[in-house]
Amino acid sequence: MTYSRIVGTGRYLPERIMTNADLEKIVDTSDEWIRTRTGVERRHVCAEDQTTSDMCIEAAKVAIEDAGISVSEIDMVITGTTTPDLIFPNISTIIQHKLGIPACTAFSLEAACTGFIYALTTADKFIKAGEVKCALVMGAECITKLVDWSDRNTCVLFGDGAGAVILKPSEEPGIISCHLGADGQYKDLLYYPVGASKDLATAGTAGAKIMMSGNEVFKVAVKTLGKIAMETLDDAGVSKEELDWLVPHQANIRIIQAMAKRLDMPMEKVIVTVQDHGNTSAASVPMALDVGIRDGRLKRGQLILMEAFGGGFTWGSVLMRL
Ligand code: COA
Repeated sequence: MTYSRIVGTGRYLPERIMTNADLEKIVDTSDEWIRTRTGVERRHVCAEDQTTSDMCIEAAKVAIEDAGISVSEIDMVITGTTTPDLIFPNISTIIQHKLGIPACTAFSLEAACTGFIYALTTADKFIKAGEVKCALVMGAECITKLVDWSDRNTCVLFGDGAGAVILKPSEEPGIISCHLGADGQYKDLLYYPVGASKDLATAGTAGAKIMMSGNEVFKVAVKTLGKIAMETLDDAGVSKEELDWLVPHQANIRIIQAMAKRLDMPMEKVIVTVQDHGNTSAASVPMALDVGIRDGRLKRGQLILMEAFGGGFTWGSVLMRL
């Protein structure tokens, strides 16, 4: 059986860092409130003229070099993002062309914070089917461009960035098990009210800001992620004790701690970047993966569970050996 395996990773974070102290100057909040409720201490914010594809290209270059491949080998580009540069053409075509990747299958998909898990799962299927030999898979977001900086309920949470992986066929795992889910009944708990076919003219104005019922999101996230994590392990016939690492979506330290508790994992076995990155939506899992690999914690052959949850709601998890 052919598996797919991650053979290279990369990340890019914009230069500008905004600390909690910076936010104290903009809204009625405090470093103490933000840290204790969310775990966030700082976040990176993209420049006004910087786009999501700009960040993807930088992350992809690092992943390509890490994998030791040439761009000519890449035959699929998928980007999970809610903040593409343009409505069309899709962001993956922009990245493909700018990186000099030969014409290939290139598309983006939108699953809010679960975007990378959806993208990775999709690429895994193409590789297992034998239709793709080398996929560039990214999760990236300029989410701060949707943030209303006068709304303390949401502006303290988010940050920008891009994460990229190179996925290739392998005789050994690799990706073992993927689980995706979504339920639109929760749409009103977390959404951005403007889109290409709805109220586009008001985008970026005070009327259009991230709408979130934080408490409700929190509860459903913990419940759903716990369930899908166990389903993923059961499906693969793996016990939670066998897991080496949890690489979770970085929305809130308390959600991450709740997940670790469900899996009986000490926090020493969880990659946490929320303090430095904030919630970077689709970028958070691939960036956390890259952080863990580059600082030497995540090692070849280890069993890793990645999971994410986002607006929709959408959710997903991937169990893999690195
Ligand atoms: N600074 C200071 N006070 C703030 C604040 C801020 N940045 N944001 C909200 N508050 C206030 C509220 O106005 C409220 O005040 P009140 O009691 O006088 O009305 C109080 O803090 C408590 O608000 P509440 O929303 O109940 O706080 P919470 O403990 O639920 O924490 C979140 C809020 C957003 C941090 C938390 O609900 C959360 O993380 N939810 C999940 C969000 C998430 O992960 N979203 C993305 C999913 S992918």
